[in-house]
Amino acid sequence: MKEKTFVMLKPDAVQRKLIGRIIQRFEDKGFDILNMKMMKISRELAEKHYEEHKGKDYYEKLVNFMSSGRVVAMVIEGENAISVVRKMIGKTNPLEADVGTIRGDFAYSTPDNVIHASDSKESAEREINLFFGQ
Ligand code: PPS
Repeated sequence: MKEKTFVMLKPDAVQRKLIGRIIQRFEDKGFDILNMKMMKISRELAEKHYEEHKGKDYYEKLVNFMSSGRVVAMVIEGENAISVVRKMIGKTNPLEADVGTIRGDFAYSTPDNVIHASDSKESAEREINLFFGQ
């Protein structure tokens, strides 16, 4: 089943010049990039994006980090894109992310773990709408 998911390359990925290598993995997999933009997100947008994590001990650090530099936001489409992209990015904690996943290969800490991807159909719709409109 074709699905759309939301992916964001975090400020550390942009600063470390990993954009091309990460996008290459999604294209190699056969996914389509339907929309993409580089932007510096406001604190307000970062807070909205992570609103379900409000109150967690890492929330402030995460929101500060995400609004600290440019990100690349994109919509990716393909068969079972939501779960396949999550598998490709690897576990949240880079120390637990398998080698061969994006976080396993490029990241070593949080919140600078290189990439975000939607974890469900509902969050994909919400996040695509938040960053790209209807
Ligand atoms: S997820 O993607 O919702 O299943 O992941 P989860 O483990 O619930 O984490 C939610 C987001 O919080 C980030 N995170 C952290 N940031 C900073 N410090 C710590 N300790 C930390 N733990 C989790 C995590 O990267 C998730 O954000 P995204 O943007 O999805 O990676």
